[in-house]
Amino acid sequence: MRFVRELTSWLSGTAGPDSFPYSPVLAEFHRVGKHFVEKELLALLDQARSQVTASAPPGDPDARLLVDFLDVALDKWDGRYDYRSYLGLRLLRLPHDDRGRGDGEGQGGGEGPAAGTEEARRGRDLLLVRLVADALAFELAADSGATGLLPEQRPGREVVAKRCRLGVRAASPALVRAGLAGAVDAAATPQTLRALAADPDPAGELALRLSMLPVYVSHDEYLFIRVLQAYECLFAGIADELRGTIAALAAGHARPAAGRLAYAREQLTAAGPLFSLLATMQPDAFRTFREFTEGASAIQSRSYKLMESLCRTPEGSRLGSAAYEQVPEVRDLVHAGQPSIDEAFRAATRDGLLPPPDDDLVRREMAAFAAAVVQWRRTHHRLATRMLGPRPGTGYTEGTPYLAAVRSIPVFTSVPHDPPPPAPGGPAGGGAE
Ligand code: HEM
Repeated sequence: MRFVRELTSWLSGTAGPDSFPYSPVLAEFHRVGKHFVEKELLALLDQARSQVTASAPPGDPDARLLVDFLDVALDKWDGRYDYRSYLGLRLLRLPHDDRGRGDGEGQGGGEGPAAGTEEARRGRDLLLVRLVADALAFELAADSGATGLLPEQRPGREVVAKRCRLGVRAASPALVRAGLAGAVDAAATPQTLRALAADPDPAGELALRLSMLPVYVSHDEYLFIRVLQAYECLFAGIADELRGTIAALAAGHARPAAGRLAYAREQLTAAGPLFSLLATMQPDAFRTFREFTEGASAIQSRSYKLMESLCRTPEGSRLGSAAYEQVPEVRDLVHAGQPSIDEAFRAATRDGLLPPPDDDLVRREMAAFAAAVVQWRRTHHRLATRMLGPRPGTGYTEGTPYLAAVRSIPVFTSVPHDPPPPAPGGPAGGGAE
């Protein structure tokens, strides 16, 4: 077997992490699915990880990429398989899931977003486009027979065409924000998007390739993983915007506070077609591969819980429930007194920092953001109901009853919100478009 030969030769030689045989290893994972990889290969990979950890100089980027990949590849072997390792979030260098990067980057409490904020926004927009375009490129490659990857339960040609339409729609706002609007038109293809958003750093492109480790060989799992990663990218960005909002409120800067909240809301709303895209997943295919994703659930998403807790400090009952037990890092931040928009807004109005009409401006944006979050929860609940039916979740909740219950948790308490009624034919509804 090629991977055993190449891996054994790499292990016994003096080649560094940059010449690790990624391709044959990846090919073997893809051939059978992560859940079914032979123990013999996993043992060799474990050996490679010990070797590179012991010998690489600290801070070596090639060694870091290799160890991150091996941690993701060996999560089931190590007994620490979860949502973050399933999605390989560390490989994508998302702030709340990346070692060595502090939270709270780009707070920009001043009159406008800090310089680093614009750069971080652009980086995340390009990553989002890259993720979606990569998913669509896979759809097209499979449809044309150009790849034999994940061969089970292939969708029909009409579904592929629909996925491409919805994916391009989901990615376009991020491309526009990234300043590449001129290069996109209604006829933009997944290949155009993929090329436009390509990472100029080959290591970034490699990391993207390595972040696709499905547990099984069912075609639709590719889409599932990329859509979840795209949402993680969005949530991470939104959490940064919310931190910026808090800093601006504390400084009594109403316009930047409202501006950052509006930016966060637009991102969440514009990503709606991502849910529609995922709604094209074949429920049978989903039920097949989720047999092997037990223990990995988005209830473990740090970015989502950060987003929630930065809006408003969760009540004790929620903090003590599975929702926060599964993200202890975020629960600890809250216990340590993480500030929230709700408190910052109350304090700013109490201290006279937001005289009329500034207070109204912020209040309106808070209500609009809350409505966007509630809309997201409703769509998510509808999608989950369609895909899952009465089955329990992979995060050990009872499934959709949990989602129905958390749908109406207030986003803020300092402003009333009146979310729009559920759209009957909205995303993830019957027709998904
Ligand atoms: C087939 C599609 C999906 C299904 C069937 C589904 C199902 C579920 C279920 C049953 C839960 C409850 C926790 C558990 O026991 O696992 C959950 C939680 C959650 N899901 Fe999904 N989900 C889907 C797609 C997504 C997507 C695309 C995202 C975007 C990241 C997402 C984000 C979340 C989040 C953040 C939670 C935690 C909510 C909370 O604790 O308040 N889900 N999902």
